[in-house]
Amino acid sequence: HGYFTFDPGFLATGSCESKITYIDGDKGVLLHRGYPIDELATQADYLEVCYMLLNGEAPTAEQFKEFEETITHHTMVHQGIHNFFNGFRRDSHPMAMLCATVAALSSFYHDDLDIADPKQRMRSAHRLIAKMPTIAAMCYKHSIGQPFVYPKNDLSYSENFLNMMFSVPAEDYKVNPVIAKAMDRIFTLHADHEQNASTSTVRLAGSSGANPYACIAAGVASLWGPAHGGANEACLNMLAEIGSVDRIPEFIKRAKDKEDPFRLMGFGHRVYKNFDPRATVMRDSCHEVLKELKVQDPLLDVAMELERIALEDEYFVEKKLYPNVDFYSGIILKAIGIPTSMFTVIFALSRTVGWISHWDEMLGEKGQKIGRPRQLYTGETQRKFKPIKR
Ligand code: CMC
Repeated sequence: HGYFTFDPGFLATGSCESKITYIDGDKGVLLHRGYPIDELATQADYLEVCYMLLNGEAPTAEQFKEFEETITHHTMVHQGIHNFFNGFRRDSHPMAMLCATVAALSSFYHDDLDIADPKQRMRSAHRLIAKMPTIAAMCYKHSIGQPFVYPKNDLSYSENFLNMMFSVPAEDYKVNPVIAKAMDRIFTLHADHEQNASTSTVRLAGSSGANPYACIAAGVASLWGPAHGGANEACLNMLAEIGSVDRIPEFIKRAKDKEDPFRLMGFGHRVYKNFDPRATVMRDSCHEVLKELKVQDPLLDVAMELERIALEDEYFVEKKLYPNVDFYSGIILKAIGIPTSMFTVIFALSRTVGWISHWDEMLGEKGQKIGRPRQLYTGETQRKFKPIKR
């Protein structure tokens, strides 16, 4: 009773022990279960990364095959979910649909409410990892008024997602392998990032014993904001606002002006103050995709010029503000034809494995406590209530 640390924004508060992800922000190190992110992003599939995040070890070939089959088995959603979508307006933000649909899953899969059973928790994790691409693609198809595309189980995780996004019943759609690889890399680079706002939200929601779908929906809500997962969307909106290369200096000036709330979206990071190791791999992927697709888009010219200027500009160099992972992922997604409003949905899809791994880790702990921060009260002192005269 009495003493606690006052730490708004949790700059100096460790909220849990975890064996999942290690970050050294000063050195630009990110390890999942001890494996460096650049090795995972270039040598492993997203589903392998999912397996190790959930299970602690990289899978053997046999374990991977079994895991892939399990995930594939769960990709369909209940037909009732299809009906559920009819209630959304066409112009609903896809994150609004995602958040609501993920929360609604708990009304379809009742066995997952038994969160004390580790086997059941793993089944919830598999269901969520499998169903997220299906639901994400449904959000998109609903928004453009096209029929939903069912999952195709002979495709890889990223190919299946692209197929559900872009194939149309009357046409033959073939997934470009360069795009599928870039998509898989985007998933991997967003898979987990220790105690960020959305993961902490999932842990806090889960600490009360709430069901996994409600917890992941809470994570989706937290991710939505522009200072977190919404940054990739905000970044593309900013590039559109800048519009042309000749207007960049004006925006750089605004970003430095302390009286102006404008910030360069997709730049800076709370933890990485030297460089973001995810951004380095994503940057290579970004240049690869732009070369392969030979896209001509003035926004991409603005992005490349902004990257060049900001990396040389004294203000950004001094404050160690580098383009972050979302700067490059936004550009890739735009180049492959994914609308800006879907960017955060794709981040949520990728991060689901991280969220659920943390949720499972927390519930597996002995003596797990409900999260309950304290506050510094700055309101009125006690006073007498005067009822309204009626
Ligand atoms: N543009 C211009 N100035 C900036 C920016 C920016 N993007 N980011 C930070 N600064 C300045 C800020 O004004 C402050 O200056 P001063 O010290 O003179 O007051 C200094 O740099 C430190 O900024 P901060 O806000 O104290 O740093 P933070 O660690 O609280 O914020 C951040 C980190 C990511 C929220 C912030 O850099 C930001 O708002 N960036 C733009 C949004 C963005 O891209 N977010 C995605 C983060 S990566 C994906 C994810 O993890 O979800």
